[in-house]
Amino acid sequence: MNDHRLRLEDYPRPHARLHLNLFQPFGPIYDWSRTPRLRDYYEPDAYVTLVQEAERGLFSAVFLGESLRLREHLGQLNDIAVTGRPDALALFAYLAAHTSRIGLVATLNTTYTDPVDLARRIATVDLLSGGRAGWNVVTTDNGWTGENFRRGGFLDRDNRYLYAEEHVAAVQAIWDGFAPDSIATSTDAESWLRPDGVAVVDRSGEHLSARVVPQVPPSPQGQAVYFQAGDSDEGRDFAARRAEGIFTHHVEFDDAVAFTADIRRRARSYGRSGDDIIVVPGASIVVGDTAAEAEEKARHLRERFLTDRRVRQIVEEVWQEDLASVDLDGPLPQHAPAVDRQSRTHGIVHTGHEPSAKIREWREISEAHGYSIRQLVEHLTRARAFVGTPGAVADELAHDVRSDAFDGLNVAPDAFPDGLGDIVDRLVPELQERGVYPREYPGTTLRDTFGLPDTVGHRVPERATLRAAVAV
Ligand SMILES: Cc1cc2nc3c(=O)[nH]c(=O)nc-3n(C[C@H](O)[C@H](O)[C@H](O)COP(=O)(O)O)c2cc1C
Repeated sequence: MNDHRLRLEDYPRPHARLHLNLFQPFGPIYDWSRTPRLRDYYEPDAYVTLVQEAERGLFSAVFLGESLRLREHLGQLNDIAVTGRPDALALFAYLAAHTSRIGLVATLNTTYTDPVDLARRIATVDLLSGGRAGWNVVTTDNGWTGENFRRGGFLDRDNRYLYAEEHVAAVQAIWDGFAPDSIATSTDAESWLRPDGVAVVDRSGEHLSARVVPQVPPSPQGQAVYFQAGDSDEGRDFAARRAEGIFTHHVEFDDAVAFTADIRRRARSYGRSGDDIIVVPGASIVVGDTAAEAEEKARHLRERFLTDRRVRQIVEEVWQEDLASVDLDGPLPQHAPAVDRQSRTHGIVHTGHEPSAKIREWREISEAHGYSIRQLVEHLTRARAFVGTPGAVADELAHDVRSDAFDGLNVAPDAFPDGLGDIVDRLVPELQERGVYPREYPGTTLRDTFGLPDTVGHRVPERATLRAAVAV
């Protein structure tokens, strides 16, 4: 537990507010035993139920991941990870019609998409939703995902981010290329479009060349909000240059404070204020009438989730080998992985490209606490959960957000489609009472909700020279 008794003025961000986003992971990555009708996973109206609940709780956004290939574990389809994720933009087009304020943030990769097509599709959802779209930019797992496109190993990691730079800059130029005031506002106008309001975007980069006439007018928020997820040095730098928000795994207090400080420092080194990036780790929230009841609920959820099979798989994901003979109630395997690269398994654990670093971290935790494998995995899962009475969780979250550990959380519901009730009805009022949560949406667009300027508030330094726009 953190010390929540600081005086307000002693916090680095005494007036900070918390953003809650709904993160729907898809598939049995969490406890799906409380999904009464399993076909709900693909019922659009089940998503409407869940998302309307989030909107009732003034959640800032719905955040969806992207999977372009079913995950695999040691050569087999991985049925206990994220599975069967539908296309986020198609789902958002439907959800936009059934909601009015909540943001719609889609994870979409730059490695296997075309910027011209993507710019148009995201802008369409932004328009349909009245300016509530966001784009979580990822580069995705290259070799493995790429095999689905016959392009395995298409780009190495460094080049993936260079390509992403060019991709995102192209999307941004396309969005910039359609001036907001170029659409007729009167039926007396001679044409619906002022031709000089649309600029040809002419780009020729090392990886990507395009000459594009933008098609879709800007939404009420100008452009979708840019998020990023990717944790390497290159990924963090990319976020610091380009993103307005970042999705991360760093949620434990000290780790989260260090991560957020690192991102803000990197952003300052690119001439930004550093405070203009919204940091949102993924987490779960479990509340109960008493601390003991909440702990019991959390323990039950952990037990459902951490079956022997899953615990073993989590360790195998890092070692990249079959560990069927390893005792889960004993210590981590002593040997080093044969291959120090995550290539054969794609499940839950993000090791980046350095399983050995993850193993070092796990050994340190296990040795410090005397943990078995099972206890270690439980510990890691516990660290991502906020558990307690609504008041205690609200105290902890208020402390964290005022300490600049993060700006918000991507919260996975503990059931589908009605897994947000406790948060909306019990936690949100406590957060509001503590002054860290809004009592209404501040406006209608996602930029209003996040307090971001219309269009992109910061500009990437090299961008000034990128606009080779010619009026038509
Ligand atoms: C919190 C988080 C969420 C992510 N979500 C997705 C996702 O939904 N789809 C995807 O293809 N990649 C996702 N990624 C992976 C990134 O695309 C990236 O490929 C990966 O982290 C490797 O980049 P890195 O080396 O910079 O970390 C996520 C990464 C993080 C850290």
